[in-house]
Amino acid sequence: MIKVNFEKAEEVKNLSKHVSAAKTHISDLLAGKIDMTGWVDHPIKYDKEEFARIKEVANEIKNEAEVLVSIGIGGSYLGAKAAIEYLSNYYSHRTVGAHTNGVEVIFAGNGLSEKYLKETLDYVEGKNFYINVISKSGGTLEPATAFDKFKALCEKKYGKDGAKKRIIATTDKAKGILKEEADREGYRTFVVPDDIGGRYSVLSAVGLLPIAAAGFDIDKLMKGAEAARSIYTVADENKNDAMKYAIIRNLYYENGKDIEVFATLSPNMQYFAEWLKQLFGESECKGNKGIFPASLSMTADLHSMGQLMQEGKRNMFETFIMIENDYDKDRVKYNDKFFVNDLNDIALRATEKAHHTGNVPVIEVKVPEQNETTLGELFYFFEMSCAISALILGVNPFNQPGVEEYKKNIKELLK
Ligand code: PA5
Repeated sequence: MIKVNFEKAEEVKNLSKHVSAAKTHISDLLAGKIDMTGWVDHPIKYDKEEFARIKEVANEIKNEAEVLVSIGIGGSYLGAKAAIEYLSNYYSHRTVGAHTNGVEVIFAGNGLSEKYLKETLDYVEGKNFYINVISKSGGTLEPATAFDKFKALCEKKYGKDGAKKRIIATTDKAKGILKEEADREGYRTFVVPDDIGGRYSVLSAVGLLPIAAAGFDIDKLMKGAEAARSIYTVADENKNDAMKYAIIRNLYYENGKDIEVFATLSPNMQYFAEWLKQLFGESECKGNKGIFPASLSMTADLHSMGQLMQEGKRNMFETFIMIENDYDKDRVKYNDKFFVNDLNDIALRATEKAHHTGNVPVIEVKVPEQNETTLGELFYFFEMSCAISALILGVNPFNQPGVEEYKKNIKELLK
């Protein structure tokens, strides 16, 4: 189970200020009184028939292909990318099959770099590949551009019928350009549920198909989320650490701390931090309010950002995401006394102490192990704490008017 520790700094000595509001928000989330909250009960109510199909298609991809090209952006990409990096051997983005019996999953459509697109097309061309194009709206420019090119490559290489089998679309159940195209071309489809927004969708087909194709156990992932659903919906701050964390964040914010630095301790957590930045940034920062989410990868960033953390403007707090037992079973010793992970722990304690002295309050989110089950728990923990936190702040965590504005402007300019 995830545990939250925090310093008893002046600002957070008295959690009671937001407890009653947080209880009301949890009960409203559970009662479905707020739009776009399908993710709350998703771990217990997800479509089991679709889940079985996801596993079947993932097995087919593993049997028939070397590479899955996952095309999507924002919430249609970051969850799967974070999960695969979190669960993989660090070098397995090139050789994932050797470690997990899965295919290599590469990501496209998450930007508009012509160079990246060309290099990705070249990388895939000589390989045996499938495509999973993911877009809830179906019309987002970046994935639509990449899909156009990968679809052409797929048809050139495998013919129309081969491409029909190898392209899988994850999109709205009924509407949108991608859904229309999938129906016209006869692609297999999976659904982005109506009541789950992009950044809350990693535990739907959006994240599950790429994660399963990479060889990871999505049954365990959903079990972790299911366990989290029962723990983090309890309206009691002494039993529910997601609720406690949401309250602490707001107390710091009210005391002038408007930047939260997520600190991770292992390079394969960096994309998890990217997922967190989208989750909190898009959910909470609107109406001229919100905590700016930033991230640091420890200990590397101590040598580039350590000065700022120690003596820069005092408007931030720091949330360490700590995996206990964060090492391989073949341990690496530094000397007779220490394993390298012991040094990481010591560096962490030294950093926390220094930042505390420098008036940067520290929160610790502790995860017992790094595996599918705890990852399912982590995703749900942060989704719930983000939703409660934004609701305490008085903003709607489930819309993204700022993102829509950019999409609207792009459409106008393209005309
Ligand atoms: O969280 C969100 O809603 C956004 O980040 C979207 O996921 C992102 O803009 C991609 O949208 P779509 O899946 O419609 O292509």
